Amino acid sequence: MQIPIVLLCLICALTYSCSKDSDNNKESFLIIQTPEGFPEFKAPSGEEINPIRFALGKKLFFDTRLSIDNSISCGSCHFQSNAFTDSRVSSVGVDGALGQRNSQPLFNLAWRTRFFRDGGVDDLALSVLNPINNPHEMRFSISGVLKRLNENQAYQTLFRQAFNDTATAQNTIRALSVFQRMLISANSRYDQKYLQNKPINLTEQEQRGYELFFGNKTRCASCHGGFNFSNEEFRCNGLFESYPDSGRQRITFLVADRGKFLVPSLRNVAVTAPYMHDGSIETLEEVIERYNQGGTSFFNKDPQIQPLGLSNEEKADLKAFLLTLTDSSFLNNPAFQAY
Ligand code: HEC
Ligand code: HEC
Repeated sequence: MQIPIVLLCLICALTYSCSKDSDNNKESFLIIQTPEGFPEFKAPSGEEINPIRFALGKKLFFDTRLSIDNSISCGSCHFQSNAFTDSRVSSVGVDGALGQRNSQPLFNLAWRTRFFRDGGVDDLALSVLNPINNPHEMRFSISGVLKRLNENQAYQTLFRQAFNDTATAQNTIRALSVFQRMLISANSRYDQKYLQNKPINLTEQEQRGYELFFGNKTRCASCHGGFNFSNEEFRCNGLFESYPDSGRQRITFLVADRGKFLVPSLRNVAVTAPYMHDGSIETLEEVIERYNQGGTSFFNKDPQIQPLGLSNEEKADLKAFLLTLTDSSFLNNPAFQAY
């Protein structure tokens, strides 16, 4: 039931008319209905959702002013049609600089407590500073961004309306956070059937895949379980014999965390290829085959990752189930498109 709210935001964002309304009227837009089957939607203090902040955040998200040479925006590596990931193995920043990691999809971030593949940041608003400063991404600085924003009349007006202030570091990251918090994906066929109890039928193949995914034979759901298909833990799924990207160890310095990465959500996984932290797997068939083989003998490989002995039919069933997690209303929602 989140869609009407997002549409409401769109209408207001496009006209900017809400900003002229009284505070009481503004508040009527703050009612956020938590999607069925999800924990309660929350926005931290200072990041309360309103249409004008959403509009400002969206404008910032798609603005190349955030990069040193005005060449790329957040949207250059986070495409809506790919659930806000890109389709590259690793992302390309200013001057064609190649990053080391595969871009992450952006949705349901309001319910997350750790960000990036190694969980290096625990606040959505702060996670914005990382791409702005990263030499492989926007290679800029927040002070440089603020100077540009405060010289621009459209931004001066928007920041005044949204925060009653000029563009400050805090307001800028909060506006981006508001936009990203509204990227809610909760309307796949799986959601409609199981969380919204709508009269939707899965095919027999999808249903068999569902049982495999949640059953003991694969144990997929032991990591990719819950409303967002991730337990939000750091695990090693045994892709390699050695890990050049040490993953969670980069943050904790513990050998016991080497090769562990945040378990990704599998929502919209049909459109987020290539897969894994380094984009090293191209297709879902290949991902399933890798799990079927049980992974490498890397010392931190999770004990859950064992040879599965799946038949070809079972592998196809599992893939068919994963495709039911695609939320086309999210991928096509006009509220999330650049102006
Ligand atoms: C050059 C490409 C690039 C640009 C530009 C970029 N990102 Fe990203 N983004 C990535 C990559 C790659 C990752 C994964 C990084 C990692 O795990 O270390 C990521 C991860 C994220 C995450 C973490 C998601 C999660 O599930 O934990 C957020 C949030 C995010 N980006 C938001 C933004 C915002 C906001 C901007 C603009 C200010 C932006 N990104 C600009 C490539 C990019
Ligand atoms: C022990 C925990 C664990 C189990 C069990 C597990 N996974 Fe994963 N899965 C992960 C981790 C961790 C990653 C991310 C690894 C990385 O980034 O290198 C991942 C990544 C994936 C990806 C790639 C997603 C993306 O966007 O890159 C898919 C698809 C996937 N798993 C499907 C499955 C399926 C299907 C099963 C059951 C056969 C399964 N997983 C079982 C932990 C697990």
